[in-house]
Amino acid sequence: MLLLVLPLATTFLNKQNHENRSHQPPRLGETIPYVSNIWQYMTNNRLFMTRVRQILKETPIVQCQLGPMNTYLVTGSSNVSLGFRSSFTSEPWILRILENAGGYTSTDMAHYYADRSGATSRPRRGPSELLPPEKRIWHTSHRMHDDTLIHARPINAFATSFQGFFAQELEAFPASEWVENIEIFSFLKSNMTAAATRAVVGPRIMDQNPDFIDAFWQYEKTPATLAFGLPPWINRRAVRIRDRFGAICREWYDLADRDFDWEGPDREADWEPNFGSQVSKGLALWAKSFAFSSQSIGGAFALLLSGLHSNVIPICGWVMFELLQNPELYLAVKEEITEAEITNQDSKVYFDHQKLTSLPLLQSVFTEVMRLHVSVLITRTSMENVTIAGYTLPKGSIVQAPTEVAHLDESTWGKPGHPASEFWGYRHVKEIETADETGNVVKKLEFFMSGKTGTFFPYGGGISICAGRFIANAEVLLAVSMLVSRFDIEFVEWVKPDGSFSERAAIDDIRYANAVAKPPDRDMKVRWRRLW
Ligand code: HEM
Repeated sequence: MLLLVLPLATTFLNKQNHENRSHQPPRLGETIPYVSNIWQYMTNNRLFMTRVRQILKETPIVQCQLGPMNTYLVTGSSNVSLGFRSSFTSEPWILRILENAGGYTSTDMAHYYADRSGATSRPRRGPSELLPPEKRIWHTSHRMHDDTLIHARPINAFATSFQGFFAQELEAFPASEWVENIEIFSFLKSNMTAAATRAVVGPRIMDQNPDFIDAFWQYEKTPATLAFGLPPWINRRAVRIRDRFGAICREWYDLADRDFDWEGPDREADWEPNFGSQVSKGLALWAKSFAFSSQSIGGAFALLLSGLHSNVIPICGWVMFELLQNPELYLAVKEEITEAEITNQDSKVYFDHQKLTSLPLLQSVFTEVMRLHVSVLITRTSMENVTIAGYTLPKGSIVQAPTEVAHLDESTWGKPGHPASEFWGYRHVKEIETADETGNVVKKLEFFMSGKTGTFFPYGGGISICAGRFIANAEVLLAVSMLVSRFDIEFVEWVKPDGSFSERAAIDDIRYANAVAKPPDRDMKVRWRRLW
């Protein structure tokens, strides 16, 4: 009997294996294996994403060799949402970022490699299950982000100090006088970076390094490229820039730590001039608890500053560009934000950042800019065999959800006369009728999203969702509101990076791959007059 069953079973299993192997998602072709796709991805991301969008119109999943990684690119609400569940992890991707883009030492990386217990409070089953809670590096890091970036207190503290520092930058312009030749994006790159850096890590890092802002914007281009883990000879320049900025952060940290009284009252201060905010003190204390080297702590601060500036500032630039190109929308937003103005004891006007996030038109413009200018492959590795779009992928498969495919999907976002590929400030609002205090029917705008989970995910999703999203929202809305309310601004012309006239408007800079928010490749020259 056994002799009869065995050959039959073997034949059946072989057939199954063959079918499993042949039942593979289609593959994105490349002329030079292992090279062409990643090269195009890094040097002409627009073309690469156009190819991906094209093929993902025909199939919800496509295999692609991106440098050393074989990945599965997916689209469709349910397929993307699947990646945000606990059967997937972002840990291998984060390891690449910390090691290659943060420049963490191998000794400090060993803590991460040794801990398989995950970020959630309940440890994953397996060899690290019995680690004491304080030794669980993924979990403690997640908690530290919750405490310092997600809770109301640090967000309110950031909103207050950012407003104060950004106001100082704006007040450097004489009141009531027209100032010519302001390039909006360059202005934001210098002045928002200065204000948000002071708000988060205090002023010392900029005082010690007069070229801090330049060094940061050099560094800012590197993390996404370095994270792919290409050999150092391809990335030599990026590694040099990373090490330079890492050294700036390390030297600042060493002095800040030396001079700070960790037992004193400033430990609890929302802001003090040595370490800045609780965000920065929380990160330093957490890193100390794992006895990290100054090199890794420098890298951790470099990544924090990159998270802080490299997405918020381009997004803010795009919001300003869109408003200034559309005077009616500009005026409507200018009027709407007055609802969020508050006058403090010093009789200066400030903005309530929570109120700003509830203003429908401003929210719609912000959402629209995030939809069009955030481009990132949200990357996860499967922790078990998973089935996506009818294909069974083995444990350890790398699945990537490109925001750019979902965010430009015509069936989700398109409206008559307003294709998904175009900015339309009113896309996410609808007019509703309501009664005012006297019972009269009045019309007002209400914010709504036609997309659902898996169709709009500029901040990623699941447990690894962007920890800085509330700070980011506050900063973008505050900076835009402060500029719009305090200045008369007139568009002059578009300019190229060298300052010369550009015959066309800005588009996303193709040199940025997986950079999350794509900066504009042109700047907008304006003249402006500060009103107050
Ligand atoms: C418009 C602004 C921003 C955008 C579009 C953005 C987007 C993202 C994205 C796509 C991720 C990966 C999420 C995932 O894999 O699911 C991420 C992670 C992260 N972001 Fe942001 N980000 C922004 C601003 C910020 C700011 C201001 C900070 C810090 C102050 C920050 C800190 C972080 C951190 C710490 C993580 C890692 C979270 C984790 O793995 O647990 N981000 N962000």
